[in-house]
Amino acid sequence: MSHYVLAITGASGAIYALRLLQLLLASGHVVHLVISRSGAQVLATELGLAVDLRDFQISQLFPEISPVAAESPATLSFYGGFRTLPTPLRLANLRYHRFDDFTAGIASGSFLTKGMVICPCSMGTLASLSGGHSENLIQRAADVHLKERRKLIVVPRETPISSIQLDNMRRLSEAGATVMPAMPGFYHGAQTIADLVDFVVGRISDHLGVEHQLFKRWGDQDG
Ligand SMILES: Cc1cc2nc3c(=O)[nH]c(=O)nc-3n(C[C@H](O)[C@H](O)[C@H](O)COP(=O)(O)O)c2cc1C
Repeated sequence: MSHYVLAITGASGAIYALRLLQLLLASGHVVHLVISRSGAQVLATELGLAVDLRDFQISQLFPEISPVAAESPATLSFYGGFRTLPTPLRLANLRYHRFDDFTAGIASGSFLTKGMVICPCSMGTLASLSGGHSENLIQRAADVHLKERRKLIVVPRETPISSIQLDNMRRLSEAGATVMPAMPGFYHGAQTIADLVDFVVGRISDHLGVEHQLFKRWGDQDG
C-alpha cells in the first residue's frame, strides 16, 4: 500500500481523474485527493457532478457509492460505461484535502508519498508550477514533489499550445516532472470513449508503477 496524491484541476478531461482514482483505490493504495475550484466546475460541466469542496463525500464523484460503505464495486457509468475493475474500491483509503488547506501532510516534504499526479492539469496550474508558485495546496504539494525529487506527473489538456505553455512544460520536465498530455493513442483497438480514457489512465499508471489491465499492450500476443 503506497500513498499517492491526485489533484484535479480545471482542464477538460475530468473523467481521466475519476478512472485513475478508481484504479488507485481498487489497487489498495491510499489516495490524497485535492480538487481546485475550477476542477469542481469542470466535474459539473462535463459529468454533471456537484462536488462540495468544503463538505466532500466520495458519493459526489461516484453517485452509485454509499458514503458509509467500506468497499464498492469498481464500476464507472459515464460515457456509456467502463469495464468493471476486478477488485473493489477500498473507500477508507481515500483522504480528501481542501485546496486551501496548507496544514495537510502533503504540503510538507516530510510526508512520504510514492508520487503525485495532476490530472487533468490546466494551463493555469502548469504556469504556476513552472513559476514555482505555491498559492494553493495543489501547487504546494507539486512543488514539494519536485524539490524532494519525487515523481510528479502532469497531464495537461489544451490545444493548440502556445510557446509560453510549451516553455512551461519544458521547464517542468527539466525540473523532473513527467509531462503526459492527455493524448490517447488509437493503435490498441479503441472502440469507445472508455477505451481512450483507459489508454491515458493506463499510461499514467505505468509511470506510477501501478499494475493494471486497462488496455492491451502493443506486442502482447496473449493479452
Ligand atoms: C468547462 C471548462 C473547461 C476548461 N477546459 C480547460 C482546458 O482544457 N485546459 C485549460 O488549461 N483550461 C481549461 N479551462 C480553464 C481553467 O479552468 C482556468 O484557467 C482555471 O483558472 C484553472 O484553474 P486551476 O488550475 O486552479 O484549476 C476550462 C474551464 C472550464 C470551465
